[in-house]
Amino acid sequence: MAFPPAFLDELTARNPIEDVVGQYVTLKRSGSNLFGLCPFHGEKTASFSVSPDKGIFYCFGCHKGGGVINFQMEIEGLSYPDAVRTLARRAGMEVPDDEQYQSRYRQQERLWALSKEAARFFNAQLYAPQGREGLAYAQKRGMPQSTLTKFGIGFAPDSWDTLTKAMLAKGYTEEELKESGLVSVSQKNGRIYDRFRNRLMFPIIDVRGNVIGFGGRVMDDSTPKYLNSPETIIFNKRKNLFALNLAKKSKLGYLILVEGYMDAVALHQYGFDCAVASLGTSLTEEHATLLSRYTEQVVLIYDGDQAGQNATQRAIPMLEKAGLQVKVLKMRDAKDPDEYLKKFGADRFRLLLEESSNRVEYQLNAILKKYDLSLDEERVRFIAEASEFIAGLGNAVQREIYGTRAAEAASISYDAIKIEINKAYKRLQAREKKKQEKIDLSPARNLQPKARSIRYDNMKSAMAEEEILAMILREPALLDGIANLREEMFSCPLLGRVFGQLKRRHAEGLEVALSVLEDLTPEEMSHMAGILQRQQGPVSEQALMDCVRTVQQEYQSGNVRSEDDLLLLRDKMKERKGIKA
Ligand code: CTP
Ligand code: MN
Repeated sequence: MAFPPAFLDELTARNPIEDVVGQYVTLKRSGSNLFGLCPFHGEKTASFSVSPDKGIFYCFGCHKGGGVINFQMEIEGLSYPDAVRTLARRAGMEVPDDEQYQSRYRQQERLWALSKEAARFFNAQLYAPQGREGLAYAQKRGMPQSTLTKFGIGFAPDSWDTLTKAMLAKGYTEEELKESGLVSVSQKNGRIYDRFRNRLMFPIIDVRGNVIGFGGRVMDDSTPKYLNSPETIIFNKRKNLFALNLAKKSKLGYLILVEGYMDAVALHQYGFDCAVASLGTSLTEEHATLLSRYTEQVVLIYDGDQAGQNATQRAIPMLEKAGLQVKVLKMRDAKDPDEYLKKFGADRFRLLLEESSNRVEYQLNAILKKYDLSLDEERVRFIAEASEFIAGLGNAVQREIYGTRAAEAASISYDAIKIEINKAYKRLQAREKKKQEKIDLSPARNLQPKARSIRYDNMKSAMAEEEILAMILREPALLDGIANLREEMFSCPLLGRVFGQLKRRHAEGLEVALSVLEDLTPEEMSHMAGILQRQQGPVSEQALMDCVRTVQQEYQSGNVRSEDDLLLLRDKMKERKGIKA
């Protein structure tokens, strides 16, 4: 992954961060920065900043940040070398040879090609004599040929080697077949055999149109009902959603999230072309983030059974955390959307969709269902739990609307429940306040980096280290005057490492900027971008020397500070900032 530094310099120079970000985010200028809505966490006010002169982005809301390469990685879910490659292509630059990387990319390309070839093969089988049963099953499940073609659905014949033979004949190796997960290896004799046999095959296609894996369904009651591709270098279940390649083009303005492949397929077939399904795993944070890139509203339609309802309760906060508005459609009179559509048709489903409730109604109903409201004792407990829940809602209008609804359900007056809600609200506020006070009183917590993996053990030194880096990044020439400051003097290994890299780059006449740093994790890069956006004090040799002295002194005294010292320190820092400003 070691790209030549000079190449990376040119790459970042030819891909101005505001242009690259601008392809994804609408930016408005404010002073020397540009602001927009953060693409990584849904939000209504712009806390996502781009600083063209520093070459970085930073979100004050979710604390993600970094240079142009990090942005490209995050926004498209790419690895570092893939992001570099994308940016190189964008700028019309040639990527210098890097064997390790090149070979991995070539390997991926081979697996994408192999998987696409396999999907074509499976699809063709449907219309061959050995696929008759498969086609009959697809028809029994109500899928016309147009649907089979649109999703590239196919059939894996009942054989141990048909696919293997066909793919070997196309020039793919046994090794590649193993890596693609299309074959399994016999424990007994080490030979490979087709993993998918006698199954209806659903190709899984990523948002860039690559076939990355398969889900195969049996045609009877045997188990497992669905067999999925294993995780491979091109297939990650946690990061992909079935049918998102199609749903991302929908004009409906929302996305529907369902449990099953068949549900997604049926929804598309009946005109709801915005449906996606998770891949036999429960929803992950990565899924939620992925969804939030394509929509602001998600309608959750999980199966009507208890498992589906539990999954719904788990999914709601995850989707909301990604900034999505969540609606929940509760299945009734059918097990899942596929069954519903086939029983009642699209129009009735549309009605169901229209009355799908927002997550508050849904959760209130879930509480309601727990109690038998004909019993006084249970009514009292219902009112207590509902009040607690309603008190937690963000605004007064919501509290009143749902308070009224809960009161009606329990047949009591709104005034009575209002008292309960207000009490619960006050308790909640008191709890929040206490929590906040605790945070405010803990300077260590305040100044500690947001990222968990980075800790400052010597806060005094770390603050000076931050300032030093902020200054030299803005004024690289300052590095000439501090030759006696060494990497190992830094109390924070990350900051020391960054300093070392910058110093070496400066000595070699390379660009000194955050965006060209290598070997930083996204978290570390975010942290560095955060420092740059926060440390905006004036740059002067005097200020720099002060900081350098602090770092050297702390290094010599071997200080690791306790939290008490930190309280004192915070006040000192404030003082100093005040004088400087
Ligand atoms: N699933 C899986 N492995 C299984 C069973 C289920 O990966 N052994 C995943 C599949 O993605 C499936 C989803 O969980 O689509 C939902 O499972 P289920 O409700 O049992 O199946 P349906 O989607 O209803 O499938 P069908 O209508 O074909 O029975
Ligand atoms: Mn089903």
